[in-house]
Amino acid sequence: MTGAEGNSGRVAGKVAIVTGGGQADGPGIGTGKATAILLARHGADIVLVDREPARAELTRAEIEEAGGRAVVFAGDVTDSADCARAVHTALDRFGRLDVLINNVGVSQPGSILDTDEQTWDRMQQINLKSVYLMSRRAIPAMTAGGGGSIVNVSSIGALRAIGFAAYSAAKGGMISLSQEMAAAHGPQGIRVNVVVPGSVQTPRTKGASEKLGQDLQRIRDTAAAVLPLGRVTVGTGWDIGWAALFFASDESQWITGQVLTADGGASVTLPAVALAGLRLPGDS
Ligand SMILES: NC(=O)c1ccc[n+]([C@@H]2O[C@H](COP(=O)([O-])OP(=O)(O)OC[C@H]3O[C@@H](n4cnc5c(N)ncnc54)[C@H](O)[C@@H]3O)[C@@H](O)[C@H]2O)c1
Repeated sequence: MTGAEGNSGRVAGKVAIVTGGGQADGPGIGTGKATAILLARHGADIVLVDREPARAELTRAEIEEAGGRAVVFAGDVTDSADCARAVHTALDRFGRLDVLINNVGVSQPGSILDTDEQTWDRMQQINLKSVYLMSRRAIPAMTAGGGGSIVNVSSIGALRAIGFAAYSAAKGGMISLSQEMAAAHGPQGIRVNVVVPGSVQTPRTKGASEKLGQDLQRIRDTAAAVLPLGRVTVGTGWDIGWAALFFASDESQWITGQVLTADGGASVTLPAVALAGLRLPGDS
């Protein structure tokens, strides 16, 4: 599925902040951009937060071309004052705040021996502290409006070792933090859930693979061979967006503190079994 299917008003009347609402340069669609477009298409007004506002402007243009409403807030989600201003932007421009998608994430490969302290701290700040900073500004605004939904975009690295120690630790912490927030703020009508993307094709992953000198086609062929859904579909930003839309909408009103993994089945497949059954595309 792409973003074009349906326009059912699943989040009509809601106001949503999407952090990292732009995307890295390159072909394909980022998870934040896809989520913002889907939320807008299904009726929400959007505040796109990005530290590179030119990127978010492209998302805003697409939303407006399709008849939706969006504004860009230029800010860094590791900065507490920027997080407060992002929430004020939602209240000033659209009058309320119902949904927060904590989508910003930056990864860095390496074991803990490869990871210096500065990198460790940066990974925790961008990937985990940002969720704390944005959410503690958003929750009072949501509570004032009668409740809301927070969706945190984690990573398969939270569930399986992927060779990104500091990033995975932060993404795992995001799940624990979401459970704490769900329990503490449920009584105010705030739901908190997590979407866990497996490896999905976004402009950033293409760039990262090229930087690491990896053969992207070989990675895709291997994924197609070992993932349960690998031959049927390739995961993209849209797949994360659809999962986030469900958590943002009232369809999930009785669901909080939960983790929804969108990974083509990677996390339910034993590596040894997957490898033993490995068939390259084209093999019978
Ligand atoms: N692509 C994948 O395979 C994959 C897998 C697992 C998890 N994820 C997660 O999905 C999310 C988005 O991934 P993507 O590949 O679409 O990313 P992306 O890099 O394309 O987009 C992220 C956007 O966030 C912005 N941004 C970065 N740091 C920021 C900050 N401190 N403050 C404000 N904006 C900031 C960037 O300018 C960019 O526009 C991340 O949380 C990532 O960890 C992606």
